[in-house]
Amino acid sequence: MNNIVLCGFMGCGKTTVGRNLARKAGRKFIDMDLYIEEKAGMKISEIFEKFGESRFRDMEHEACLELADAEGLVIASGGGAFTFQRNIDAFRGKDKIVLLDVPLDIIKQRLKNDTTRPLLQRPDKDEAMRELYEKRLPVYLSAADITVSGKSTPLKTAYAILNAIDSAKSK
Ligand code: S3P
Repeated sequence: MNNIVLCGFMGCGKTTVGRNLARKAGRKFIDMDLYIEEKAGMKISEIFEKFGESRFRDMEHEACLELADAEGLVIASGGGAFTFQRNIDAFRGKDKIVLLDVPLDIIKQRLKNDTTRPLLQRPDKDEAMRELYEKRLPVYLSAADITVSGKSTPLKTAYAILNAIDSAKSK
């Protein structure tokens, strides 16, 4: 059984939707950021602080290769993972890549008080988010096998993903 891998911008709900999806589908859930944190023995913010973003991206790539080797998981990727071709290549063809599509204004609202994401800890946070969002959206869209709206509740979104995967199968 191949993996279902959720991608999309920070705050689009990959982790909460992923947990619901895994429960409903009877699959094991892996949060990629947590996986990296456990391996490294430190938080993502500490990895950025101590070693820089580029080292984090290497660790993220290593995690993609390891997780793509597994079977039957629901994986919530980190928001930057699917902006790198080498990570898309790790899952593409073998696993189902699902984009959780959430408009920027909702993302901004959800991340207003966030302090955990190193890329957003800056005074021009709104502008930085807009720039990153506009740059990344077309990349996510071309990486994904299926795009599902993530505006609804996590449970409804999980059902929408299962339905979309089912109807893609019967085509
Ligand atoms: C990142 C998103 C984060 C985390 C790291 C970098 C990104 O994951 O991997 O802070 O580049 O968008 P979430 O999407 O789970 O917030």
